[in-house]
Amino acid sequence: MTDQTPKKLFIKTYGCQMNVYDSQRMAEAMAAEGYVQTDRADDADMVLLNTCHIREKAAEKLYSDLGRLKPLKGGRPDLKIGVAGCVAQAEGAEIIRRAPQVDLVVGPQSYHNLPAMVRGEAPAVNTEFPAEDKFDHLPQRRATRRAPAAFLTVQEGCDKFCAFCVVPYTRGAEVSRPTARIMAEARDLVARGVREITLLGQNVNGWHGDGAEGFGALIRQLAEIEGLDRIRYTTSHPNDMGDDLITAHRDIPQLMPYLHLPVQSGSDRILKAMNRKHTADQYLRLIDRIRTARPDIMLTSDFIVGFPGETDQDHAATLRLVEQVGFGTAFSFKYSPRPGTPAFGREMVADAVADARLQELQALLDRQQRVAQESMVGRTLGVLFEKPGRMPGQMVGKSDYLHSVFVQAPDVAPGDLLQVRIKASASNSLEGVLT
Ligand code: 5AD
Ligand code: SF4
Repeated sequence: MTDQTPKKLFIKTYGCQMNVYDSQRMAEAMAAEGYVQTDRADDADMVLLNTCHIREKAAEKLYSDLGRLKPLKGGRPDLKIGVAGCVAQAEGAEIIRRAPQVDLVVGPQSYHNLPAMVRGEAPAVNTEFPAEDKFDHLPQRRATRRAPAAFLTVQEGCDKFCAFCVVPYTRGAEVSRPTARIMAEARDLVARGVREITLLGQNVNGWHGDGAEGFGALIRQLAEIEGLDRIRYTTSHPNDMGDDLITAHRDIPQLMPYLHLPVQSGSDRILKAMNRKHTADQYLRLIDRIRTARPDIMLTSDFIVGFPGETDQDHAATLRLVEQVGFGTAFSFKYSPRPGTPAFGREMVADAVADARLQELQALLDRQQRVAQESMVGRTLGVLFEKPGRMPGQMVGKSDYLHSVFVQAPDVAPGDLLQVRIKASASNSLEGVLT
């Protein structure tokens, strides 16, 4: 710790949960430099934008936010502006050329250099992929009490090279963190009050530890930590759903009955063009095996509509797959061409056609989401309480299936995990009573 008065750090996080986790770790690294976090950009000494590059719109947001920060910097030339995350990785020094108000550009594998960059002791642009684990060079997570649910990165990067996706280029090749580090971080989180851990990775179920161990074995080890009541993981690839992981869903009560398993499309032709390396039928058979192991599991997915070459028949196949599976919730996106990916430059589906398909798919997924949520009414579910609700005496928490649940329970504290009978379903949440 330095002894000067604390400086203020504002971090804005775009995109996925991995970025949320990385932002926390960067805040901890900067805390060691005497920075405290603020939620206002206009009184910060440093503004850090942790960016997402997955779709064009996500990257455009960065430049419009940088435009808004420019006048702030005009009035306060000592304000530092940093760009982190996947746009930083993809565009590097180009960001400073386009937005000269930016002082620092740091890619996701170089966060351990951030303090030295801020001190001016390391180059202002750093987008290297070092061989070692960046987490080894970040400070230990600080000994403060934490919210009851936390993220823990176990794997980064992706070797799958889906034809639409920038991740293999921005996050690099798949790297698994060693078991011992993951176990130590998990034990430390639990010691500080965490009861639920979501294991993160771009291809989290491709985690393979120090050697032959599989992801299911890691979950079994984590489940032995006393006080760790809930385990989740995201995001998975169907081709890495090994037997050990499927049986973990059968055997481990702490592993929540919720699985995000993106399929992207229901058409074999499009799956092939996307380089997904599985068919719709293989996905459906996999879902059958998972549901045999854990019949009450809720499934969620990502979909892309309007991928180059997608016909009405292909789209109909996607709708059919959705009908067959019945998803608890799902994210659907219009294809966005990303420079440097294999599908970039392929002939696009007309925009109006893609829009119409997106609407149709979203309407179906919304209906399924409503059905899934309403099916919770009358059931008794575990709820991990997080914070007070808006009404006096009300507490809100997350169910096993990640729905927000409101309960009238003035004596309940954040971190309590209790059984709740679900009484009603509102638009985006559930209401229940303690059993
Ligand atoms: N266009 C649209 N959606 C994309 N995704 C990834 N790349 C693209 C792209 N170029 C979606 C996929 C992925 C999710 C995180 O984002 O559905 O699963
Ligand atoms: Fe991108 Fe996921 Fe495909 Fe990897 S598996 S390339 S992260 S969509």
